[in-house]
Amino acid sequence: MDFTLSEEQLMIQQAARDFAQTELLPGVIERDDAQKFPEEQIKKLGELGFLGMMVDPKYGGSGLDTLSYAIAMEELSKVDASSSVVVSVNNSLVCWGLETFASEEQKQKFLTKLTTGEMIGAFCLSEPEAGSDATSQKTTAIDKGDHYLLNGTKNWITNGSTAGVYLVIAQTDVEKGHKGINALIVEKGTPGFEIGPKENKLGIRGSDTHSLMFNDVKVPKENRIGEDGFGFKFAMKTLSGGRIGIAAQALGIAAGAYELALKYSKERKSFGTEICNHQAIAFKLADMHTEIEAARLLVYKAALDKDNGNNYDLSSAMAKLFASKVAMDTTVEAVQIHGGNGFVKDYHVERLMRDAKITQIYEGTSEIQKIVISRSIIKQ
Ligand code: CAA
Repeated sequence: MDFTLSEEQLMIQQAARDFAQTELLPGVIERDDAQKFPEEQIKKLGELGFLGMMVDPKYGGSGLDTLSYAIAMEELSKVDASSSVVVSVNNSLVCWGLETFASEEQKQKFLTKLTTGEMIGAFCLSEPEAGSDATSQKTTAIDKGDHYLLNGTKNWITNGSTAGVYLVIAQTDVEKGHKGINALIVEKGTPGFEIGPKENKLGIRGSDTHSLMFNDVKVPKENRIGEDGFGFKFAMKTLSGGRIGIAAQALGIAAGAYELALKYSKERKSFGTEICNHQAIAFKLADMHTEIEAARLLVYKAALDKDNGNNYDLSSAMAKLFASKVAMDTTVEAVQIHGGNGFVKDYHVERLMRDAKITQIYEGTSEIQKIVISRSIIKQ
């Protein structure tokens, strides 16, 4: 398998790296502190084509492959995971889902705005009692002829208040179980649709996470994605790709923390020498470097599986499981290498450590990834 990046991929990597340094780094600590959504930064990312990276240019997208997207996600996440989660959700859960499964009318109406950042999207699957157990949807979408009547609550929704369009998974026919679930496009401002208060989170504090309440919301039938009952498969297929984005985010968080720790260890002195010369620190750096490279190879493999038309349910689950663990382990060690400074906000690594944790939880916890992986290998 050839992992050599093309000229174009190297350019995208450099563009994302430059953007992270010039646009995301300034104010990243303050935004985290104040839980401030990176509004201007997301607008610019949209203008530069980072919000619809894999979408056909005829819908305003950048027409790139999944590997380019993963590379960009890594670079942005090295600096600001609160911004990169917006990029990930918009690209892989919303734009990819719509481009792959929506009708031409739906694409013209919604996708063309989502790719440019004119508006961003949200993916609404989780509920107070349906997080990992995603088939247990309590939100209902009752068929009323020309529309669905939507009732229920969604939890922990990324882009909860900033999105203009929401892909909502809901149960239409309880008797049919997961085959009675639909995915509906709900526009902000539809009567009966309310947005709850912002969650006060451990990490990715700049990202905008809310509960959503639907109270007799009328959703026109033409806003259903795919055939009647396709909603659960829509969610699962879309999440398989989403997990590549989150795996790349975890990789970036790990790589960002590692780069800071390496630099710091070459500057900070103790016992008369730079601390990288102590084996206790040098061996930590060796482990970090090795694990990050292994995570990167898994992320690239999953991206290439998707680009080459192979099944990527297994490779994306493995990439997310492993990269998120590497993110957690690496950021903890990066704080340790920084010592007392690591515990202080100015040095960034404590924020990266807090941000790392969510990569083991959203878009399927690590335990869910193990269900996906084990079922896949047992079936083979
Ligand atoms: N592609 C297509 N179909 C799939 C699929 C996939 N990847 N995975 C499952 N399915 C299908 C199955 O084939 C089955 O259909 P059939 O009966 O026709 O064969 C159906 O879906 C049900 O599958 P299971 O029997 O395997 O269902 P399950 O109840 O055992 O659960 C699960 C499977 C993998 C655990 C699933 O519930 C799951 O992924 N849970 C985690 C949900 C999740 O990731 N939530 C994240 C929220 S989104 C988020 O975090 C976004 C954000 O804002 C950042």
